[in-house]
Amino acid sequence: MSNSLAGRNVLAIGDLSKEEILAVLEQATRLKEQCDFGVAKFNVLDGYILATLFYEPSTRTRLSFESAMLRLGGGVISVAEAMKSSSASKGETLSDTARMVSGYADVIVQRHPAAGSAQEAAAGATVPLINAGDGIGEHPTQALLDLYTSQRERGQSDGLRLCLAGDLKNGRTVHSLSRALTHWNVTLTLAAPQTLAMPAGIVAELRQKELAVHETGDLAAAMAASDVVYVTRIQRERFADPAEYERMKGSYVVNRTLIERTNPSITVMHPLPRVDEIATDVDALPNAAYFRQADNGVWVRMALLSLVVG
Ligand code: CP
Repeated sequence: MSNSLAGRNVLAIGDLSKEEILAVLEQATRLKEQCDFGVAKFNVLDGYILATLFYEPSTRTRLSFESAMLRLGGGVISVAEAMKSSSASKGETLSDTARMVSGYADVIVQRHPAAGSAQEAAAGATVPLINAGDGIGEHPTQALLDLYTSQRERGQSDGLRLCLAGDLKNGRTVHSLSRALTHWNVTLTLAAPQTLAMPAGIVAELRQKELAVHETGDLAAAMAASDVVYVTRIQRERFADPAEYERMKGSYVVNRTLIERTNPSITVMHPLPRVDEIATDVDALPNAAYFRQADNGVWVRMALLSLVVG
């Protein structure tokens, strides 16, 4: 079977066709099934090395990529806090760093606070580079695991009613996910305070691709009319004015009472980390899919690495 992802960069979700997204999700399902049958490690990437370059904090993305590579039989070299601990602190460019690291690894996963930084690094890389989050830009591998999770939780995407809620202005996960959803026949409700609304350019792009998009400030009404609510954190680190963050903090909270009142069968997703936008009293409900969603990151990233490097 041909693999069109071999040797490719993944800088934005738009780099992948619907067929390529489905190939990743199907491979993730196969890998998960084999792990469920007791296979703990595969040897498909034996001898290959992943480099993770993280210029911005991460728990899930970095560790799940590293876990994925180790489970595939490969090795990992890693720079956390790369702003301080790599030669970026001496002024080395992202492009030069990626060129160097290409000599030490077969695939690079990079996170950086600046939108467009993945493209900048990829210009110097001579091995595939995967964007693990570039500022308020994109987080394409999160979108892949979000699609995988919504399909596992609710069945096929076609016909699904999704509500993306919270900081849609600064949240890169929703920028990638909404673009990925244009491949399916879904209804998308964007529920956000006015100052944190989805950028108009992205909304226009979604509508141009004929996605049914509604914008509202009424989270309860949006949840009542949705199968899935995808909640996001207010991205404190993206606010130039700390007072503005303080004003917005706590402006929306999904808790058990809201779920019971609006839609007791709704699936609750979140890319995590959460602060206070999902109350901990939701965690024990079957609706709470966010920890399963984070676990799914390993299967999806195993699938992507095996296709890109393999
Ligand atoms: N969802 C996500 O990107 O989490 P981390 O910031 O912990 O990687």
